[in-house]
This record gives sequence, structure tokens and C-alpha cells, in this order.
Amino acid sequence: MSRIFSGIQPSGELHIGNYLGAAKNWVDLQDDHECFICIVDYHAITQAYDIEALERRTVDMAVGLLSAGIDPEKCVLFAQSHVAEHTELAWVFTTVTPIGELERMIQFKDKSRRQESVLAGLLNYPVLQAADVLLYKADLVPVGEDQVQHVELMREIARKWNARYARGFFPEPQAQIGAAKRIQGLDGRGKMSKSLGNTVGILDEPDEIWERIRSAKTDPARVTRKDPGTPEKCNIYALHQHFSSLPVIDDVAEKCRTAGWGCIDCKRVLTDNIADYFAPMRQRASELRQSPGQVSDILAAGAAKASVVANETMIGVRSHMGFLPATQTQPAER
Ligand code: TYM
Repeated sequence: MSRIFSGIQPSGELHIGNYLGAAKNWVDLQDDHECFICIVDYHAITQAYDIEALERRTVDMAVGLLSAGIDPEKCVLFAQSHVAEHTELAWVFTTVTPIGELERMIQFKDKSRRQESVLAGLLNYPVLQAADVLLYKADLVPVGEDQVQHVELMREIARKWNARYARGFFPEPQAQIGAAKRIQGLDGRGKMSKSLGNTVGILDEPDEIWERIRSAKTDPARVTRKDPGTPEKCNIYALHQHFSSLPVIDDVAEKCRTAGWGCIDCKRVLTDNIADYFAPMRQRASELRQSPGQVSDILAAGAAKASVVANETMIGVRSHMGFLPATQTQPAER
């Protein structure tokens, strides 16, 4: 059975972008793969963040993932900071990773533009990501399109470490991209992302979904209700592809091209379908929120299982790198 590893930042909200682009695929893959899913809280501190909110956002992300169908019986779900070997292996990998490779990462270039002085943590972000995956010797990394470059870099890091210390020790993981590789944000300005405020949360109530969808960008050619549009240019149509049935999708395209209805009608149908799709998940989330201890227990059990694998990998890493083994100190005799 091949092993998958993937991670998600504790932004607090599973939205239809990271759900369709990643979490939905994890749920599908957990039945026939060994599965490790990590809430990457150490990655989240590489940019300005709200200290007070980090803990809550981590729990909320776990609630979102469990509601979306991550099954703790089938999949090891845990928080990155609970397994210290992630940062330990990341340090080791900084010693085989060329700075030039890190500087050419698209996400680093984007994010560093927004930081006043660029911090080493942001540059080393993909090194920690490589450690996440390689610690578990995972072979598949199901992600959205924006993470492909980071997965390519982790393959290179694995190759470099293997070449220097132990041939074949780390596998070279492959990115696996699902059908929804990049969901656009509702503002039409780029990918859907919590930090851009252009999302629909999977646990949003129907009236919140409507509030968000109602003001979303559509094909600019549809200035008035009578102007025909091109569905392929409209993000609302793109979202119908994920939440509406085939006859509805055809009908939406036809009514857009012929100005048979207004964008607001099209948005209403989409809202209802999104709300219906996620209804069972809202139900599950409200049950989980009534017993917060259950979520902490699931994360603790996940960290315990992950630690077994992580510890074993690090023993191998230290041994191949020539470190003095740590010996157990005997208690002094009385
Ligand atoms: P993050 O938290 O930004 O996103 C989590 C996953 O969701 C995908 N995704 C999307 N896919 C399609 N359309 C969108 N609008 C969209 N927004 C997010 C992302 O591609 C990702 O797969 N660096 C990673 C987290 C990470 C990780 C790892 C991933 C840390 N360690 C190890 C894989 C393996 C990140 O920031 O994801």
C-alpha cells in the first residue's frame, strides 16, 4: 500500500478551494492508502499571525477536516508542532539545500514581497515541507497546483541527502493533483484563499454562503440582465461544475449564453447546491463542536502514531550521518 502525506495550514477555515483542491482527495484516498494528514502550524508562523488565535484555528481546521470526512481510524491526523522530528529533520535538510533553489520558489517570491524584511523561516518554508513528507517516507503527496514546485524541490532534497549519506533511504515523492487543481477566488483576482478574503467556507451556513456568492465576480460582459455571457469566462459557472448536476450545468451554460436569466438567478442555484452538498458536514461539525475534548484526543492519538514513524526515521538519519548515539543514562545507585 503506498503512503500519502499532505499538509494544510491552520487558517481556521476549510474553504471550497482547499477542500476541492486537496481535502476531498485525501478523503477519497484514505480508503486504500496509508494516510498522514498534518495541520502545519510551524509553517503558519512564517508570516505575521495572530498568537491568540493559533490554537483555535488549529482546532477549527481539525473540525473542518473531520467533518469533511477524514476518518481518524483510517488516517493519521495530527498537528505538526506535536511531533518534534519535523523541525529536526528540516534542520538537517537545510544543510543539503542550495539557497538558490529556495529563492526561486514562486510562493517565496510572492510572500517575500509582502514582508518588510525577509525572514529565514519564509525562505526555509519548503525545507520544512520536505521534512514533513520525507519523515514518513511517503510516496504520494496529494496537493493543489500551487504546491507542485515545492514537491519537486523535496524530490531534489531527497536525492541530495541520499547521494551524500545513504542511497535509497528516502523515496522521491510524487505530487498528485486532483481535478480541481486551482479554484479561483470569488473576487476573480486569483486563487481562493482565506488571506485574500475571497472564500466560501465549507461549514458556512446557507445565508453566509449566499452573502458571499451574491457579490462574486461574473463574466464582465454581463453588464445588464439582457447581455449574453460566456460561461467559460465565469467563475460561478466553474463552481457549478463541482456542485451541480450535469443537466443543471448544461442549463446554466445555455441561460448564460442566451441571457435567459440574470447572474443573480444563476448564483441562487449555485448557493442552494453548495449549501445542500455541505449539509451533512455542517451537521457533523456541530456535533464535534459540542465535544471539543474529542478533537484534542484525535489529534493526540494522531501525534502518537506519527511519532513512532518519525522517531524511527530520525534514528536512521542520525546513524547514517555519523552522530554519536544517545545512550540511556542509568539511574544512580543509592
Ligand atoms: P495550504 O494550507 O495553502 O493549502 C492546503 C492544500 O489546499 C490546496 N489549495 C487549493 N487547491 C485548489 N484551489 C485553491 N484555491 C487552493 N487553496 C489551497 C493547496 O494546494 C494545498 O494542497 N505548503 C502547504 C502546506 C504543507 C504541505 C506539506 C503540503 C506543509 N507541508 C507537506 C503537502 C505536503 C500549504 O500552504 O497549503
